[in-house]
Amino acid sequence: MGVGEVAEKQEALVADHNNERCMMERVKINRLLGSETALEQVIIKGWVRTKRDSKTFSFMEINDGSCLKSIQVIAGEELANYNEIEKVTTGSALCVTGRLVESPGKGQRWEIQADGVEIISVAPENYPLQKKRHTDEYLRTIAHLRPRTNKFGAAFRIRSEAIYAIHKFYRDKGFRCLSAPVITGSDCEGAGEMFRVTSLDPADVAKQGRMNFKEDFFGTQANLTVSGQLSAEMFAMALGDVYTFGPTFRAEDSNTSRHVAEFWMLEPEMAFCDLDANMDHAEELVKTLTRHVMEHCADDLALFTQFVDKKLGGVLDTLVNEDYARVTYDEGIEILLKSGKKFEFPVENGTDLQSEHERFLAEEHFKKPVFLTNYPKEIKPFYMRQNDDGRTVAAVDLLVPRIGELIGGSQREERLDVLEARMDEMGLPKEDYWWYLDSRRFGTVPHAGFGMGFERFLMLVTGITNIRDVVPFPRTPGKIDF
Ligand code: 4AD
Ligand code: MG
Repeated sequence: MGVGEVAEKQEALVADHNNERCMMERVKINRLLGSETALEQVIIKGWVRTKRDSKTFSFMEINDGSCLKSIQVIAGEELANYNEIEKVTTGSALCVTGRLVESPGKGQRWEIQADGVEIISVAPENYPLQKKRHTDEYLRTIAHLRPRTNKFGAAFRIRSEAIYAIHKFYRDKGFRCLSAPVITGSDCEGAGEMFRVTSLDPADVAKQGRMNFKEDFFGTQANLTVSGQLSAEMFAMALGDVYTFGPTFRAEDSNTSRHVAEFWMLEPEMAFCDLDANMDHAEELVKTLTRHVMEHCADDLALFTQFVDKKLGGVLDTLVNEDYARVTYDEGIEILLKSGKKFEFPVENGTDLQSEHERFLAEEHFKKPVFLTNYPKEIKPFYMRQNDDGRTVAAVDLLVPRIGELIGGSQREERLDVLEARMDEMGLPKEDYWWYLDSRRFGTVPHAGFGMGFERFLMLVTGITNIRDVVPFPRTPGKIDF
């Protein structure tokens, strides 16, 4: 086919799709399924999930992504293009005009008797999502198609709804949303797990045998942010209560079911706030978000209760109804040491908890979320407020059943002299943090905040056990296909 012919064919196709019937307004299937009455004329557009043919009818389940459920369409042989309709396959896209009528079938109130079926496109037989159930592992290899399955459609609708719930929660509480930068010149967590951002030519770097940051785009070393906290602190000193919610990046080589290299973190930061109020806030946040998802995503959640985790209902009830436990790190260590449980990693006061320890505390000991406070300062970043014991800092982690750490935060060190001394102790270059220290020079106040891993929250409320399955296109060590 010549170029001219191709163009002509495309034009004809577009004209066909744009014909009158298709351009009339479509109704989303979630609205139709909630209809109170039968309707004389409706238009839906969506994709064929399944199709059965009898001699004189085609039954098609059409899904448009607006909800978990599909709607049944009945197309009879009287339709002018019935020959074509018979050839329609799973995954094909259709525009259906017809009547919304009571369905005699079980499990659905409404179905559509088609007056017309426009075939927008036909998916060939090698469309990977045929009827059979696929494993999560396989679906990860086709992450571009998996949102078309029931499970992943549900997961990503819940993700979307939870994002809305976050902004609503903070707006209702009078917080301001801050867009923290993604490219930064500082390492908030001091763990050195950062991705470099550079415009230097790798060939030049190789030739020179080093990276000459002076010649780099920013004239200095730059990274993708690991946390928006330092920016949020600056804004809390101006706008009072703020939050940032955006992508964060960690180049840690942990190939676990709870780590990805790119994830979204929600970070509130509150002026005039101490550790207790910080915990109150975190508890209210988790409860409100969970309740919102339960109210607004009931159908999608029901799928997870039925197919992913039979105990999910109980988990959600605990999350919204129970008071979360609050103990110190020292008390947590005591509980672990006395538990008699054999852990893979030893429990020792002064070291960081492993995920198995965190899960034991939340899942088996308290059987609900638990805040662990006042960690030894050696295992926490420089910005946490030192306690009077000189040994611990006003840190807080929220540990939850099945996941472990959901939230990490602290009251911040607002005393300039104490903060500078701690930075010296840790060997941090104070001159690089001059702007951060300014906030302690000019009108410093007690303040606190935390970061909640958004994907971990989604795992918690859906029962999904692998973080890769709540991220649209997950990035993990050695893997970036999409
Ligand atoms: O505990 P983290 O490292 O805390 C901070 O970054 C603080 N600056 C936050 C603050 O106080 N504003 O990270 C916060 C949360 C963790 O509790 C965890 O839920 C999540 O971020 N998280 C990850 N989620 C997915 N993949 C990873 N690699 C994660 N690393 C941390
Ligand atoms: Mg942490």
